[in-house]
Amino acid sequence: MAPLVLRTVAETAAWVDSLRRSGRRLALVPTMGFLHEGHVSLMREGRRRADVVAASIFVNPTQFGPKEDLSRYPRDLEGDLAKCASAGVEAVFAPVPAEVYPPGYQTYVDVEQVSQGLCGARRPGHFRGVATVVTKLLCLFKPQLALFGEKDYQQLQVIRALERDLNLGVEIIGMPTVREADGLAMSSRNAYLSPEDRQRALALSRGLAAAQALCRSGTRETPALVAAVRRELEAAGLREDYVELVDATSLTPLPAVSPGQTARLLVAAFVGSTRLIDNQPIGG
Ligand code: PAF
Repeated sequence: MAPLVLRTVAETAAWVDSLRRSGRRLALVPTMGFLHEGHVSLMREGRRRADVVAASIFVNPTQFGPKEDLSRYPRDLEGDLAKCASAGVEAVFAPVPAEVYPPGYQTYVDVEQVSQGLCGARRPGHFRGVATVVTKLLCLFKPQLALFGEKDYQQLQVIRALERDLNLGVEIIGMPTVREADGLAMSSRNAYLSPEDRQRALALSRGLAAAQALCRSGTRETPALVAAVRRELEAAGLREDYVELVDATSLTPLPAVSPGQTARLLVAAFVGSTRLIDNQPIGG
């Protein structure tokens, strides 16, 4: 069945109120649209764990820097609604920016520590925008649970921190990255890639797999693991933004993967003008 499309905060609040009165459990899947199998996996898992799934489709302007791709970010509301329908989503919040940030808007959420390195260091203000919009969505929908992909691993840690620090009482569920058959992590930004760049983009997942294999064979020091990723990026002619090995929760840099520890290896690189990210657990 086609989902109910909610355009305003008032309509959404009324829908949420009636749902709460019915006692049904709600799962929320926040998105920026141009949905792919990764988003659909979150919706399906939401259905499995709750009675009702709602999604938001909102290209959030506050998480884009002045030189980033806000105006050209891919959009396809009709196609997205069809995917939501087939994933069993009951309602979709699809507001215009002025509904979320009306004139006079002045409240932002800053998650201080986990926002600092990695993408946070390269995209100033990005996680402040993400944390603000996600907080607003969680306050509006009051879901029992909300689902996010591990592809945006730092974002997931930022969201876990804001939920905990603000006592929002929402279970935050991180779901594994969904990949194309050849290993490329699914992302709405893959739509920017030419067929040649699409091939070159495989260097990210290949680099992570090479580092993982090296770690399994006993090499646990950061420089060697990072070098394994860099070799793939260089061979494909990609410009590295960062390659870092960090603690999986605090995201602080690690000198090595200790025995028994599961760390996270994260990469960001430019394929032409398109910036892609990927990550993988490593060690354990
Ligand atoms: O991951 C995304 O699509 C966005 O950053 C999110 C969480 C929907 C906030 O705009």
